Amino acid sequence: MRIAVLVSGSGTNLQAILDAARAGCLEAEVALVVSNKANAMALTRAHEAHVPSLVVSHKDYATREAYDAALVSALREHGVELVVLAGFMRIVTPVLLAAFPNRVLNIHPSLLPAFPGLDAQRQAFEAGVAVTGCTVHLVDGGMDTGPIVAQTAVVVRGDDDEATLRARILVEEHRLLPRVIQWFARGLVTIDHGRGVPRVVVAGQARGSFGEP
Ligand code: GRF
Repeated sequence: MRIAVLVSGSGTNLQAILDAARAGCLEAEVALVVSNKANAMALTRAHEAHVPSLVVSHKDYATREAYDAALVSALREHGVELVVLAGFMRIVTPVLLAAFPNRVLNIHPSLLPAFPGLDAQRQAFEAGVAVTGCTVHLVDGGMDTGPIVAQTAVVVRGDDDEATLRARILVEEHRLLPRVIQWFARGLVTIDHGRGVPRVVVAGQARGSFGEP
């Protein structure tokens, strides 16, 4: 399966995917990395892994739709079958979603639907929750909405600060995202439309787990 990873920043989730692919744990190939920022560390990671990468700057497009149309043509040119948003700080439009129906994934550092949007780890820390975590979900038109594919819970410790909590969630993100991509590569993921909201069904797999204590 040919995947694209869309990034804006440090790209540690991209690195986890590249490492899983290199270790032979992923029946997927990173066919393209796209960044909306020219200085993203993620581009260096792509380069070092000999993976094709592109900068598509949102500043070069008048509308979100025009930007997404440029993304779609790049993704199509590279034969991409699954699009993974990994720290991609852009809201995507129906232009991208219609081109890849139920094939756009996002990773978010909270147990959605709690704490959508920016700084989810800070939101969780400030709310004083005892458990937070990370979520991989299919992207729909909303902000961090869309059918949940998998989640890992992370316990908030008494001595945590925002940084330590963020770091432990990130460790779990790096485990969860390649696992979910592998489910897609194996064709294990289906959507059940029969019970109100669309629900993800993953054949033979637990969709929720607890991170390391
Ligand atoms: C991650 O916390 C991810 O959940 C969020 O943005 C961050 C990206 O980190 N969407 P990285 O660029 O993968 O290091």
